[in-house]
Amino acid sequence: MPLPSRCPFPLDSGAADIHGETAALRVLGPAARVVLPGGVPAWSVTDPGLVRRLLVHPRVSKDARLHWPAYLDGDLPSGWPLQIWIEIRTVQTAYGPDRRRLRRPLVPAFTARRVRDLAPRIEETVSELLDRLAEAARAAPDGIVDLRAHFAARLPWLTVAALVGLPETMYDGFQAVNDSVFETNLSAAQAAAITAEVARLCDDLIAVKTEHPGDDLATTLLDTHREGLLSDQEVPDSILMLLGAGYGTTACMLDHAVVNLLTHPDQLELAVSGRVGWEQVVEETLRHQAPVANFILRFPTEDLHDETTGMTFARGDALVINYAAAGRDPAVHGADAGRFDVTRATTRDHLAFGHGAHYCLGAELARLEGRIALPALFSRFPGLDLAVAPDRLTPLPSIIFNGHREIPVRLEGNPDTWA
Ligand code: HEM
Repeated sequence: MPLPSRCPFPLDSGAADIHGETAALRVLGPAARVVLPGGVPAWSVTDPGLVRRLLVHPRVSKDARLHWPAYLDGDLPSGWPLQIWIEIRTVQTAYGPDRRRLRRPLVPAFTARRVRDLAPRIEETVSELLDRLAEAARAAPDGIVDLRAHFAARLPWLTVAALVGLPETMYDGFQAVNDSVFETNLSAAQAAAITAEVARLCDDLIAVKTEHPGDDLATTLLDTHREGLLSDQEVPDSILMLLGAGYGTTACMLDHAVVNLLTHPDQLELAVSGRVGWEQVVEETLRHQAPVANFILRFPTEDLHDETTGMTFARGDALVINYAAAGRDPAVHGADAGRFDVTRATTRDHLAFGHGAHYCLGAELARLEGRIALPALFSRFPGLDLAVAPDRLTPLPSIIFNGHREIPVRLEGNPDTWA
């Protein structure tokens, strides 16, 4: 087993090559010392076994306010671009009883039955978005449209915005801030401006939902606040977290599924012909291109020794879970782990939705969106093709979300048959 390097590996804040970076980190051991954007030291945990053990370890916390000395001692750089990930007060940054308190009100919205009931609405939205995609392609002088903006990102956005209960007049404003809030190469001024805009939008939303409650998550959070079970800050923060968790993640999953299928026609053929189910395409995409590439941060609440790897993490060390690396681990998925293969036996053996106490609440919803959106897209536009070479697609500038800025495509075929 190679020893972890003593020289920390600087993560690229622009995330130009997430998988090149994870391959380099894996060579350094099951976890490697890294420097986060903004100059903050941390560990990147790449080994899937170690990831699983840390995610269920009772002495690993996500609460910087309790367990991160660098935060408590004021050692973080001012205007740190990742600050919002630490400061937001939600289930995602909570530990112990607080974690349970903050997760409890969200759970009923994600039961198997509630998610199944969303299917007709998602099918309707998909159909409308595909109509609009065809219109946009007809209107574009060169016939090129951005599939990410019109479809891969828009579907999850409309789905989660309705679930949270945003009035339609607020859809675009909230979507715009969500597009920038997760960029990890923002300047301090940009990060501050976005944080202020988010706070303003959340205040407006809370005013609307207080006046006009509905059958939605924002209303549930407000009711829970009224019962004294959530603080003033936890309500807007949970709203923002839900929108981000349901939107950027699923957008990246659909984005990579489409790009992978367009660049691997043999794999697309397996799905379109029905020889491989679309659920398998979704799982292989999650394994091969973990939409949440890195999740920040976790902190051992005491010195922690992992017997299996021999690694020791000190109390208060910052840990990044590298889901992108875990999905391509050669020991689990073989030497060709970097290949997109929808027939792979280990496809479902991924950690893209996390593991343990913080396991993704929206996993079944995201899977449902994929199973509905992908066959509908390829059946409506069988000639769909990328309008640029795959290596010209620009990655999102985020170490957290793994996707593309745009997916320029041509719908091809006869426009009369599109609608
Ligand atoms: C492909 C899409 C998705 C992926 C890859 C994904 C991934 C993840 C991951 C990795 C975590 C755990 C983070 C950690 O603690 O390390 C998580 C948590 C979470 N996800 Fe998702 N997610 C997706 C879709 C969704 C959707 C659609 C929703 C619903 C709005 C959602 C809501 C949540 C929530 C609320 C949590 C926090 C759970 C907790 O901390 O207890 N996610 N997700």
